[in-house]
Amino acid sequence: MPQFTLIQDIKEILLCSTMPLPFLKGEAMSALPSCKNSYLIIEDGKIHSFGSMNDIPNLRFEKIVSANNGYIFPSWVDSHTHLVFAAWREQEFMDRIEGLSYEEISRRGGGILNSAKKIAEISESELYDISYTRLQKLIKSGTGAIEIKSGYGLSVESELKILRVIKRLKENSPIPIKSTFLGAHSFPLEYRSNHSGYVDLIIHEMLPEIAKQSLADYCDVFCEKNFFSVEETREILLVAQKYGLDSRIHTNQFTHSGGIPLSVEINAKSVDHLEELNSEEIKLLKESNVIPCLLPGAAFFMNCPFPPATNMLAEGLGFCIATDFNPGTCPIWEMKTIYHLSVIKMRLNSHQALSAMTINGAHALDLGNQCGSIFPSAKANFIITHEVPSLAYLAYAINDHWISKVFVNGQEL
Ligand code: NIG
Ligand code: FE
Repeated sequence: MPQFTLIQDIKEILLCSTMPLPFLKGEAMSALPSCKNSYLIIEDGKIHSFGSMNDIPNLRFEKIVSANNGYIFPSWVDSHTHLVFAAWREQEFMDRIEGLSYEEISRRGGGILNSAKKIAEISESELYDISYTRLQKLIKSGTGAIEIKSGYGLSVESELKILRVIKRLKENSPIPIKSTFLGAHSFPLEYRSNHSGYVDLIIHEMLPEIAKQSLADYCDVFCEKNFFSVEETREILLVAQKYGLDSRIHTNQFTHSGGIPLSVEINAKSVDHLEELNSEEIKLLKESNVIPCLLPGAAFFMNCPFPPATNMLAEGLGFCIATDFNPGTCPIWEMKTIYHLSVIKMRLNSHQALSAMTINGAHALDLGNQCGSIFPSAKANFIITHEVPSLAYLAYAINDHWISKVFVNGQEL
């Protein structure tokens, strides 16, 4: 017997359709399909149907929930995180506040190398436990699908350790998780003057083992001055593609590092960061299928310029927005905070930011056919807000806890 739950008295369901929504670009990011004064029915963890309050179908409901005139929208899709790390890095934060740059800290063996040292020391089971606790917190805050990267290992053993932890999280998580191998996050100290040696280690030892054990869905490289060059990035990502791992690139965080033309050349799934992005790079992206992923939490936390989101929209480009949750450049794990930052610092309207953080994030993770929008057969992962005056209020009321209920697989948390 199917189990039906009815949610009634909904002010408006946003991002709903009879079919999964496509990736939204330009103006389409402000014109979200919606259904006012509505009901929503869940059947066994999936969306069954939705419609106007006057047309509730005659079914036997196991449970009836009132939305109390709140909005419903799909759960956040966080398409870029480094959630599996061993320790926070608050001391480096203080060092930066006192004037040291990210590069200086990194040159001294801090930054990513500091995180790698901590990963080498922690046991796999403890790493799993603290990561699982973090994931639970994220899910409670409304994140309904997530990407998690390795990249704090930087040795065969430690990278595999992180990827096994992500695999276990996948097995035990109620929300979809995509796993990304980011061995090319930084050069470990012992390869400082032997970059090709580390690239060889990634290509000949890490990637074959990761592919053999099916430990990743994507491969990512930090393509940036003082990190991986365009040539090194290309070499790694093309080998990863041969193993079936689509490409993502951390690029243009601090400089125009060449990652954008490369992403188009190799047909990457996403290019992430883009604090530095000029009009030529915007045009290149526009003519491709590469999904730009903006990370305003990192720009905020690092006091960097914000990605030129409105210029991108004006050119008709679409993008997703994610947390970049990590211990170095963005300790923010809550998508709601990122939503507010997106509106205030990148001058997006409430609809644009919402579509970037739901449907577009889902497409960036190849999950558009199960989450990111509300359609019959979608995963019933969604957020119900308290009764608020308008959608604009959601963007505006920064410290108002306007999330009333979070549903995951049809269950209220
Ligand atoms: O996305 N930019 C590179 N990687 C991470 C931060 C790494 C770290 O400092 O731990 C990021 O910002
Ligand atoms: Fe990142």
